[in-house]
Amino acid sequence: VTLDIPQPLREALRVSEQQHVLAFWDRLNATSRAELIAQLQSLDFEQLRSLFAKRNQASALPANDRIEPIEFIPLDSPQNSHAQKLGEEALRAGQVAALVVAGGQGSRLGFEHPKGMYPVGPVSRKSLFQIHAEKILALSRRYGKPLAFLLMTSPATHAETVQFFDTHKNFGLAAEQIHYFSQGTMPALDLTTGKLLLEEPGRLFLSPDGHGGTLTALASSGLLARLQAQGVRSVFYFQVDNPMVNIAEPLFLGHHLAARAEVSSKVVAKAHAGEKVGVLAKINGRCGIVEYSDLPASMASEVDATGRLRMWAGNPAIHIFDVAFLDKMTREPEYLAFHIAKKKVPCIDANGAKVEPTTENALKFERFIFDVLPAADRYTIVEALRSEEFAPLKNAEGADSPATVDRALTDQALRWLTLAKGSAKEGVKLEVSPLFALDAQEFLTKVAPNTTITENHYFGG
Ligand code: UTP
Repeated sequence: VTLDIPQPLREALRVSEQQHVLAFWDRLNATSRAELIAQLQSLDFEQLRSLFAKRNQASALPANDRIEPIEFIPLDSPQNSHAQKLGEEALRAGQVAALVVAGGQGSRLGFEHPKGMYPVGPVSRKSLFQIHAEKILALSRRYGKPLAFLLMTSPATHAETVQFFDTHKNFGLAAEQIHYFSQGTMPALDLTTGKLLLEEPGRLFLSPDGHGGTLTALASSGLLARLQAQGVRSVFYFQVDNPMVNIAEPLFLGHHLAARAEVSSKVVAKAHAGEKVGVLAKINGRCGIVEYSDLPASMASEVDATGRLRMWAGNPAIHIFDVAFLDKMTREPEYLAFHIAKKKVPCIDANGAKVEPTTENALKFERFIFDVLPAADRYTIVEALRSEEFAPLKNAEGADSPATVDRALTDQALRWLTLAKGSAKEGVKLEVSPLFALDAQEFLTKVAPNTTITENHYFGG
């Protein structure tokens, strides 16, 4: 069968001056032709033209005096016990879902599988996915309701992720509890000409459309409507690369519910002024995030009377969204505009020869989930301890690498052990299974006082 190019598509390619994508058409077999047509038909050529036109626009941050520290609920808030109760009730009532974004390509880590498959357990070598799944399982048992686990993949990670869960019998979770949904993709454009890049003669280069793609994907998969119908009111959002996240933590949920917030975010103190993490701030009177690359250096290093960084509130990407708010946001797409980044994208040239660029050659487009924050009329910001909640796996070496994640997990286990009046020999690795204890409190009920550990140890369950 020789597939031909539908006339409207041919016309769209001509008008947008993208006909070069058909340069190898005669060489393609029927399958490749069908795939290329499908890829091209998913594109919005007008959108691409307008994004290319905006490629040199600087990000629109207001004047410095319109960016202020944001009010927050401190660790020792007097409202904590009330919040804890509210959060636990919501979990018992099945009004909460946990959503992990796992569609990214993890290019900095350089792992050839979805990042969630990376083994991070210091002793057990459990994967990120397993650690998250076991937390969900432990929560489901503790509150007597299966906690819905929404897992966002992308075409780059979907098949392997699903297979990984299948192979491991969903790490004990019920199949009905896991809801996969796959995010959309965006093409890349040549940096100087705006032409679509091909990764092979019959295939466009496409990549996931950013964690902001969560919203569109939740809606288009029908999952958002199903959650609403099931009475889920709050979605706890986290990233696959942080094994320390306290998934659906009742205290955080309770603060969110008590404030009837549309969005809630955790914040952790920045390690130092130059740390590459966005900060939560009040921007033009609304809640928002200033990316580290946009925060003026003078503002980043400013300290208050107590010596603390004035813009201290680092973003660990842990949020709770009110489901009705998410639904509203799907109808207000202007909040989730694409961010444009200059990147190195391997591609083929006009002769079909492979190009491995050494400098940025392409524009890539991503949406960021936190762009919905300014739309919230009611929000809560809750302080969290970095050492207990945030150790992201981003790089192969140095900061936020397997070595730092390993250290953070061992240190946490050691702190809990010390609380239980136990001790461990210098240099041993420790790890607590989520099925053994989800938090220090639970750990204390399980470990005998004065326990002494002399070799690598896994508190398993
Ligand atoms: P990052 O922005 O750190 O990207 O994603 P990444 O894919 O993990 O790594 P690099 O930048 O290529 O090295 C933060 C979180 O958002 C998810 C990632 O899976 C990770 O959990 N994400 C990112 C998506 O789900 N989709 C995307 O399109 C981008």
